[in-house]
Amino acid sequence: MWKLDFAAADVPLLCYLREKAFGASLKTNCFGRYPHFLMACESTNDELLRLAERGAPAGTLVVSEVQSSGRGRLGRSWLSEPGQGLLFSFLARPQLPPEIAVTLPLVAGLAVTLALRDLGVAAGLKWPNDVLLGDLKVCGVLCEAQTSARGIEGIIIGIGINTGAVPEAVAYRATQVPGVLNRLALLAQILKRFEGLYERWEKQGLAALRAELDQCDCKVNLPITVKLSDTPLEGISRGIREDGALLLETATGEVMPIVCGEIMQWD
Ligand code: BTN
Repeated sequence: MWKLDFAAADVPLLCYLREKAFGASLKTNCFGRYPHFLMACESTNDELLRLAERGAPAGTLVVSEVQSSGRGRLGRSWLSEPGQGLLFSFLARPQLPPEIAVTLPLVAGLAVTLALRDLGVAAGLKWPNDVLLGDLKVCGVLCEAQTSARGIEGIIIGIGINTGAVPEAVAYRATQVPGVLNRLALLAQILKRFEGLYERWEKQGLAALRAELDQCDCKVNLPITVKLSDTPLEGISRGIREDGALLLETATGEVMPIVCGEIMQWD
């Protein structure tokens, strides 16, 4: 595995310009302020975890052109060909109880949905944190904790977006962002959206983001099937609750909060 850190002293000119261009388009105070651009790595989440364990500050960002072992939720892998994706991880260090911290992935999913909408792409959020175009997945979010004996020290927010062709081996029903896209501009917009949402979320949790949750949830009031470990459960989605649970109205009219699982995708 070879690796080229664009932030290193001996950077090639192109990489240097790229980082400069990103710095100029970044409109945040924290997130993305300490960027590391890599040509390749195993997983940006793993790279960032190593930095986090060495004390990297909140806002540290790792972007990679390609990953050899990109990871998804529930033990799946994340596949993307060089140049065809926006693959990055950034670090948050929320000082919050775990029951609030666990809702951070939804904040990340909202940020991507809103940023894509800002760029004219009609994206929607599918609980817990997939971003869809129509009924096809364009983005996934994988959050992982950096822990110590003291508890959660940081949260690594890993995001993969299909900005170009989706590899044939991809098993989920996927699509790509339409048209020609400036990946650095999209990245800067996601981080800006994230920071705005995060500052409110840090004070009041998801309750502060009620309006955005309702605007972006593309499954609300629609029939869905939720996969709970291996058992599918059908019902109507009644939206996302402020503790992060999905509300599922079953055939009996009972509304069940689903804390863990995912909405299945159909043709
Ligand atoms: C999912 O939909 O299951 C989540 C996919 C998350 C993929 C991204 S790509 C950047 C970051 N590094 C990883 O190894 N995974 C996340």
